[in-house]
Amino acid sequence: MITLTINGTRHDVSSDPATPLLYVLRDELGLHGAKYGCGFGQCGACTVMVDGRAVYSCVTPVAALPGREIKTVEGLGTIDSPGPMQRAFMDEQAAQCGYCIPGMMMRAQALLEQNPAAGEQDIRDHLQANLCRCGTHMRILAAVQRAAD
Ligand code: FES
Repeated sequence: MITLTINGTRHDVSSDPATPLLYVLRDELGLHGAKYGCGFGQCGACTVMVDGRAVYSCVTPVAALPGREIKTVEGLGTIDSPGPMQRAFMDEQAAQCGYCIPGMMMRAQALLEQNPAAGEQDIRDHLQANLCRCGTHMRILAAVQRAAD
């Protein structure tokens, strides 16, 4: 049994320690915000935060995570009460298909927690690690700039 702290709540999980966090989130805990894209740490769809830093949950084994603070997109707010990052993405209508958006929000959240004064180039550089196949990059950029204001 491995105990994970996710969005401030402790969860005992029974998965093999080598199981990537993404599978535990989605299959064992019912947290479906983080998405499976490539499974190889290349696309960013699965991005969550661990101790304030953005990580690819598809290549992060749960064995590495006890005692660490995991945050997923569900931890940013709710449908009834979206958090500032979620609100900014909605206000800028940043999503096209929306598949990449949870990962984008988590990487942007990590950036703004590390650097609340992040400027356009900081945001561009930081979001290089996440892909959007719809090509809504400019709206995503605007959303993160709005969240930073
Ligand atoms: Fe994890 Fe693509 S699914 S980086």
